[in-house]
Amino acid sequence: MKEDRIDTLVRTMTELQTTPGATTAPVGYLEISGLQKSFGEGPAVLADINLTLARGDFLAVIGPSGCGKSTLLKIIAGLIKASAGSIVFTHSGARADTPSALRRAFVFQDANLLPWATIADNVALPLRLAGYAQAERLARAAAMLELVKLAPASQLYPRELSGGMRMRASLARALATQPELMLLDEPFGALDEMTRDELNEDLLELRERQRWTAVFVTHSVTEAVFLANKVLVLSANPGRMHALLDIDLPYPRTAEMRLMPEFLRLVAMVTASLHSVRVKLS
Ligand SMILES: Nc1ncnc2c1ncn2[C@@H]1O[C@H](COP(=O)(O)OP(=O)(O)OP(=O)(O)O)[C@@H](O)[C@H]1O
Ligand SMILES: [Mg+2]
Repeated sequence: MKEDRIDTLVRTMTELQTTPGATTAPVGYLEISGLQKSFGEGPAVLADINLTLARGDFLAVIGPSGCGKSTLLKIIAGLIKASAGSIVFTHSGARADTPSALRRAFVFQDANLLPWATIADNVALPLRLAGYAQAERLARAAAMLELVKLAPASQLYPRELSGGMRMRASLARALATQPELMLLDEPFGALDEMTRDELNEDLLELRERQRWTAVFVTHSVTEAVFLANKVLVLSANPGRMHALLDIDLPYPRTAEMRLMPEFLRLVAMVTASLHSVRVKLS
């Protein structure tokens, strides 16, 4: 399939599902206030999280291991409940306190592909669950695989793919349902640096086309700065907002930007913030 045909298909799918005016939705697409979380009788894992995301924001979450990053992501996803506080989404002009009304998608560190299904069938699975007819499923899965540069592998099985390719398939599966909120938990954490850089660039390209809002958990400062327009640095025990840093680099971002003084300055700024969290912990 040609690039422009894919673009047209993706744009049409997005437009069909976008509420008029929604693209100009103001600040407040996702508002988290006074969020706290503890498990059972245990100590607080997260405390005093207050955060507002605008539609189209790309938030990277970074912090020491065990500080509650995955827990925060699961709460935003609606997979687990907060112990206190509120989380409000503005959806189609209305406000909702659960994300169930939103088309949201997850990508985890483990690609979680079904080993007995081809890559195309894996990507089409959420569409099947959502009740799409077979022809539409096939067309969408093919378009998504083209987008993530995996079209030639569509009839292969997960075991026949490299780690990077499996992650591309996982991205394609997440994007197939045209999510408006993408939640990613260290999706590229297990990949080598070159593959990770490449996937970071491709992820931003996909975002240019589909325009979802993202919350992306990572341990890599460079990855956070490259992808995000906001970086949340969490402290630990309990996870609190240590800093919320703006990354004022224009989009689209290119591989060359990683060498620019401004990029390196921002990496140093986030590293210093993370370092002061570690100093506090020790
Ligand atoms: N279901 C659960 N029941 C009890 N405690 C939990 C549960 N899930 C997470 N925790 C605890 O909450 C804390 C935060 O865990 P979480 O997985 O959110 O950390 P994280 O920042 O994602 O860590 P990592 O960087 O290692 O992935 C940890 O102390 C963990 O043991
Ligand atoms: Mg985690």
